[in-house]
Amino acid sequence: MPDLHIEPSPATLGATVRGVELAHLGPAEWRAIEAAFHDRAVLVFPGQHLSATEQADFGRRFGDLSIEAMAFTNENPDGTIRPVEDALVGLLRGNEGWHTDSSFAPLAAKASILSAVKMPASGGETEWADMRAAYEALDEATRQRIATLSALHSLVHSQAVAGQGASSTASALASLRSPGYSSSPDQLADPPLRPLVKTHPVTGRPSLFIGRHAYGIPGMGPAESERLLADLLDLACRPPRVLQHRWAPGDVVIWDNRCVLHRARPYDPTQPRIMHHTRVRGDPATEYAAPSRGPAHASGTPSSLTSWAEGPGRS
Ligand code: OGA
Ligand code: MN
Repeated sequence: MPDLHIEPSPATLGATVRGVELAHLGPAEWRAIEAAFHDRAVLVFPGQHLSATEQADFGRRFGDLSIEAMAFTNENPDGTIRPVEDALVGLLRGNEGWHTDSSFAPLAAKASILSAVKMPASGGETEWADMRAAYEALDEATRQRIATLSALHSLVHSQAVAGQGASSTASALASLRSPGYSSSPDQLADPPLRPLVKTHPVTGRPSLFIGRHAYGIPGMGPAESERLLADLLDLACRPPRVLQHRWAPGDVVIWDNRCVLHRARPYDPTQPRIMHHTRVRGDPATEYAAPSRGPAHASGTPSSLTSWAEGPGRS
């Protein structure tokens, strides 16, 4: 096999890494990959064909896992396709909105790894957007405006916006039965509050920390808050800050949830799509956010947040 070769994409993030077998990494290769991960935030490894164990082992190089290797798929074990009304399919469709993984949980994710097993004939690409470059693209007035702002992050909220009710979202989560993904009902109703600007714990670079789970900025009304978050997202997720990957089975991608957003692109829901997902926990020192109504925020949280937590305008 030729030597390790890292080719940056033309976008502000992302690189394709060839000439390496992730299942058999030497120490120098690992150091180069970790450095490229910090620099480019998304790494694409074509044609790796990792087993679930190999994928989890690669993930553990980055830290403790909250999801070892789980199939994110609309296909049942017997080969039938789950209908669009299915609760789990609702969760998968939700992934078509820009987000960062586990930001709705007290401990947000450090990194996620996705590998393609079975792809639809068209669509079903994944996209990532660079929130470091997005922050750099903001004008000074906007940077000052958001410097001290935070937003709640809730999966019940984001799924409600995507058309899925709270009980369906909860049952979809329960059916996944993974430690990192099984949020208790309490946790879902008591979302963490996270600053809009995040400093990367390794590189020190500031980035926008937003996405579909974010809503309800304390100190703003719901409409103003929604408008600000939507405007930021719209500006952030544009070229040259967006990378798209069209998957071939066997491809592996890892991304840094601390500074990029990602989303799935739509595909024909009657066709199977099987992805294997591994998730690396964030560092409690830098990715933990206390529940907004928990003891840490008990005195500082406006009571108007209670109605937000239940989903604005939805029963
Ligand atoms: C995920 C995710 C997008 C995709 O696995 O966390 O959002 O394209 N996936 O499947
Ligand atoms: Mn995701």
